[in-house]
Amino acid sequence: MSYEDEKNRVKTPKEKKMFEYICYCDKVTKGDIVVAIMGGAKTLQDIMKVTGAMAHSNCAVNNPTGKCCGNDIKEIIEIYS
Ligand code: FES
Repeated sequence: MSYEDEKNRVKTPKEKKMFEYICYCDKVTKGDIVVAIMGGAKTLQDIMKVTGAMAHSNCAVNNPTGKCCGNDIKEIIEIYS
């Protein structure tokens, strides 16, 4: 099943949130980050290494908030750890 097929399959708002980009620069979703945490990632550096997040930072252009995703990733680590 392709990423788009899987994305279209989900129904609940909570499921849909897992397909939202957190790191827009490297197209890393909330789900990618949660899976990394479930796999043992504990720090921002772990998430960067496992998912590739923050590897090609150009946040002012790519992220709709204009900010880097680092704090958003840290919040997800706190919630799911
Ligand atoms: S949004 Fe993650 S590095 Fe830019």
